[in-house]
Amino acid sequence: MGLDIRIGKIKLKNPVMVASGTFGYAKEVEGLIDLRKLGAIVTKTITLKKRPGNIMPRICETASGMLNSIGLQNEGIEDFIEEKLPYLSKIGVPLIVSISGETIKEFCELSKILDNEKAVKGIELNISCPNIKVSAFAKASADRRRSQFTVHSLIAQDKSATYEVVRGVRRTTDKTLITKLSPNVTDIVEIAQAACKGGSDAISLVNTFFGMAIDIHTKMPRLGNIIGGLSGPCIKPLALKMVWEVAKAIEKPVIGMGGIMDGDDAIEFMIAGAKAVQIGTANFVEPGICEKIIKGIEEYLKKNKIKDIGKILGNLQSK
Ligand SMILES: Cc1cc2nc3c(=O)[nH]c(=O)nc-3n(C[C@H](O)[C@H](O)[C@H](O)COP(=O)(O)O)c2cc1C
Repeated sequence: MGLDIRIGKIKLKNPVMVASGTFGYAKEVEGLIDLRKLGAIVTKTITLKKRPGNIMPRICETASGMLNSIGLQNEGIEDFIEEKLPYLSKIGVPLIVSISGETIKEFCELSKILDNEKAVKGIELNISCPNIKVSAFAKASADRRRSQFTVHSLIAQDKSATYEVVRGVRRTTDKTLITKLSPNVTDIVEIAQAACKGGSDAISLVNTFFGMAIDIHTKMPRLGNIIGGLSGPCIKPLALKMVWEVAKAIEKPVIGMGGIMDGDDAIEFMIAGAKAVQIGTANFVEPGICEKIIKGIEEYLKKNKIKDIGKILGNLQSK
């Protein structure tokens, strides 16, 4: 049965990747899952300098999902190359490194560094994290266009800023470039098109939805940051619709995510047009869940006598 797919220059033995920020740097889950079975690993987002993250608490459970306001806590690119990359390179699964910056220059510096690393097969541009302040970047890149950004605005909320950051990074590397979009927009299609125009090889979506929760006994927000990003099964229908819209509108491959918990959910995203999927929140429920999701996809194909996964891609039937 053919589960193998290609995203840009990356060949994956199956379409299931772990989503950024939900799987650490893989070592943390060693022994809980056979890492070699994964289609690809996407790392936690790395920034140029160390980031302590947002104030606690940074996670809270919601109905059918979770809110997080981690704030891209990480040790910075130097630590990543020295401490995390050696382990990740030995797994034998394509490695995609997620990066984020507050200026185009920062994004480019990160991609230049990663371009020298043979083990890194792809770069995912996280221009959609709802938990960092990007006003500095927004000002630099968008002033010319008289676009106003607030503290919680995202690069992925502005098509010109999206185009500029992707185009800047594209000039620094030939590695497969994936741009990760935010669902917190009015028209996700125009942002996806801007990323493709800038030179992105693929689009991944969705990052989390802005959300908040309140403890009615203390009347305090449940997250230290007040606002966080909502993920998990509660966002699946919203994410699916956006994946469908984007997949119809662009030629480049789409990587879908948002609340995928089993093989059937993954198949749904592929019928909507996603060539591959990423699994996020489900890893917190069960770190080995990706193996089950891959098995679930195989079972679906077998049951429906489909030999090649490509046959279901975007194959949505009309009523
Ligand atoms: C705790 C947590 C941390 C996350 N950190 C990142 C991150 O560092 N970079 C990123 O691009 N997305 C991050 N995400 C978003 C996920 O990669 C994914 O886009 C989102 O959660 C939707 O998928 P899901 O519903 O399967 O979790 C994070 C999500 C969670 C729940």
